[in-house]
Amino acid sequence: MIRYDSRVTLVRIPAGQKSNVQYRYAEEPSKKGIKMNVPFVDLKAQYAQIRDEINPAIQEVIDKASFVGGPYLRAFEKEFADFCGAKHAIGVSSGTAALHLSLVACGIGPGDEVITVPNTFIATTEAISISGARSVFVDVDPESYNIDVSKIDGAITPRTKAILPVHLYGQPADMDPILEIAGRHSLTVIEDAAQAHGAEYKGKKVGGLGHVGCFSFYPGKNLGAYGDGGMVVTNDPQVAEKIRLLGNHGRAERNRHTHEGFNYRLDGIQAAILSVKLKHLEDWTARRRHNAQRYNELLQNLDIITPTEKKFAKHVFHLYIIKSSRRDALAEHLQARGVAVGFHYPIALHLQQAYAHLGYQRGSFPVTERCAEQVLSLPMFAELTEEQIQHVVNGIKEFQ
Ligand SMILES: Cc1ncc(COP(=O)(O)O)c(C=O)c1O
Repeated sequence: MIRYDSRVTLVRIPAGQKSNVQYRYAEEPSKKGIKMNVPFVDLKAQYAQIRDEINPAIQEVIDKASFVGGPYLRAFEKEFADFCGAKHAIGVSSGTAALHLSLVACGIGPGDEVITVPNTFIATTEAISISGARSVFVDVDPESYNIDVSKIDGAITPRTKAILPVHLYGQPADMDPILEIAGRHSLTVIEDAAQAHGAEYKGKKVGGLGHVGCFSFYPGKNLGAYGDGGMVVTNDPQVAEKIRLLGNHGRAERNRHTHEGFNYRLDGIQAAILSVKLKHLEDWTARRRHNAQRYNELLQNLDIITPTEKKFAKHVFHLYIIKSSRRDALAEHLQARGVAVGFHYPIALHLQQAYAHLGYQRGSFPVTERCAEQVLSLPMFAELTEEQIQHVVNGIKEFQ
């Protein structure tokens, strides 16, 4: 998995050269005399815009020593629930914690199967495994790269307890058929919305569409903390109560524990930062969508595939993904021009060593496997300039 930050530029290790990784960080383009450097994400540029709001917000939490729980967390939970159009939101320590807690709170555990996709970040399936359940994969749709809803029925067994669609890259999965299938088989639907803050399905925000929705506030996400963080949203008051309890050591009140739980809390400083940033999210999303539109316009009639926004979707472009049959060479070409790119995700989960025990093989999920070979993520963030977009596009055009 390629974890990105503001300077990730990856270069393939030449075949034959000894290394246990396929890619390494490139030299700073400036050192090679390349004039423009386009980062993958620019968190410093974002901070520069909001510094005057962020710094006093952090200071206030420190002055009040409201580090764990407290009013800043409660305020942000309320704001985020309202933003998603959901009744309850519970701050947690990461997106992975949000998924794990949701599964446990919905009663999913050993012996159960959870249907999800092999085209996602491993956190989705790690959460399933640590709950004790087993991941059952369904291939993805070739246009949206999200779960292919026509294949879900075929994966259901008597042990299936939940469907866990991922709104990958910022585009919602096709939720109506998922909810219809879930209703028919009495299954829980847990949305992995880690990459999709503010994305909409048929005009409704993701997160509150299924039984439970899970978000990540990893710094590079569309709404990112200054450290790890996550959120569970739900309209079910009992599930909300259970998640709140389990995420805080199963503590019903001081010194009284009704369950064994976890320490999965979101801290006050992160909540205060996220409250500030949430006010900017709609604007940042509009800018991401504008940037995606510019890429779409400028990348027409080239030998690459640009993203498809489904009719039912408002895509928030956490990642802008193109597909190329010469992906690796194109990536190297762009990196040499100072353009940081990423692969999301270069090894499909069913082919990861960690999931050998699930018994899938190459060929089990052909659409996902093609994605793993062909997808390339271009720089995408709200502050991306027209000049930077042109530099990326010119690099792709040169390569054709
Ligand atoms: C699709 C998906 N699910 C889950 C997660 C887990 O989130 P976190 O890194 O906050 O644990 C991520 C984050 O990388 C993700 O992209």
